[in-house]
Amino acid sequence: MTIPRFKNINIEAYRPGKSNGGTIKNTIKLSANESALGVSSKVKKVISNKKISPYRYPDGKSTKLRKEISKKFNCNINKIICGAGSDEIIQMLCQLFLSPRDEVIVPKYSFLIYRIYSKLSGAKVVFSKEKNFKVSISEILKNVTKRTKLVFIANPNNPTGTYLNYFEVLQLRKKLRNNILLVLDDAYFEYMKNSDYRSGLDLFKNKENVFILRTFSKIYGLASLRVGWGYGSKKIINGLNKIKPPFNVNETAQVAAIASLRDSKFISRSIKHNIKYANKLKIFLENYNITSNEVSANFLLLNFAKCQIKAQNFYRKLMSKGIILRSAEDGYKIKNMLRLTIGSKNDNLKFIKAVKEIFNR
Ligand SMILES: Cc1ncc(COP(=O)(O)O)c(C=O)c1O
Repeated sequence: MTIPRFKNINIEAYRPGKSNGGTIKNTIKLSANESALGVSSKVKKVISNKKISPYRYPDGKSTKLRKEISKKFNCNINKIICGAGSDEIIQMLCQLFLSPRDEVIVPKYSFLIYRIYSKLSGAKVVFSKEKNFKVSISEILKNVTKRTKLVFIANPNNPTGTYLNYFEVLQLRKKLRNNILLVLDDAYFEYMKNSDYRSGLDLFKNKENVFILRTFSKIYGLASLRVGWGYGSKKIINGLNKIKPPFNVNETAQVAAIASLRDSKFISRSIKHNIKYANKLKIFLENYNITSNEVSANFLLLNFAKCQIKAQNFYRKLMSKGIILRSAEDGYKIKNMLRLTIGSKNDNLKFIKAVKEIFNR
């Protein structure tokens, strides 16, 4: 049987952090920056509620969820769009703005989805160099041409864990040409307690040429339900609504996201837990000459340059003990580094024990 030929697609498919260790049972997954404390008990309660009707189409406008978001973050409901994960919003932004010959700038070591959807829309992806694994504003500006339409920045950045302080972010917007849309991905902003950091939403709530991305997959613990949101000018939101799949966010995801926004105690606990264990793990790993970024989001990028064993070897040894990290070489092409997600107390203690065994001390 023959089928029509695919169009020419020149992309490397997204490679998520591994989620199982083959034949090894009871693995500990520290590879996908998921929530260390799981999900709020209040969310568990609402999603087991019999009122959810799987046979009905959900509200395609996610009206109640947008209302809750606007209340919680003090922003305009008409400038919010919800998506099946922020992934879907990134995809829609690319569909809305990009044609072949357009250019998109992404930092060299940034979230892979930006380059994937940009390329799928036919645009040219231009990688800006980073300095010590940190986004460089001057390198971004160097790459701007008259064809540049979008610049994607995750702040803090995945997988490097570095971030731009608020002054740098403001400078970037100021120096970029006005008709370039700056897309600021706040996926990990809740974890950020660093005094020189501000979220994209805080800085640019009323700026026409900045678009903000947010997700429920990280601190809210709803990765599997696929729900995220975007915030931008009414013009952009109207454009996105035209191309949005009609029922993109399912009802369970909408009610879970609303409940998760209402449980601020769970969020505070998650933040405290993250700061405590991120610092603890960072200091612990330094004993073995494994260095990492300044504590920021719910993960650390581990650098093995000064360590007696190589990242890949460490990865394999941990895997054989049922602990899964994210290879930074896979997709991101960062050599001799691994990304470690901060896990639950139990997971972190098991990780510490396994590392002691690997180094025999
Ligand atoms: C920077 C960044 N943005 C977005 C996402 C994806 O979020 P979602 O699950 O909402 O699609 C991730 C997930 O790892 C991420 O690291």
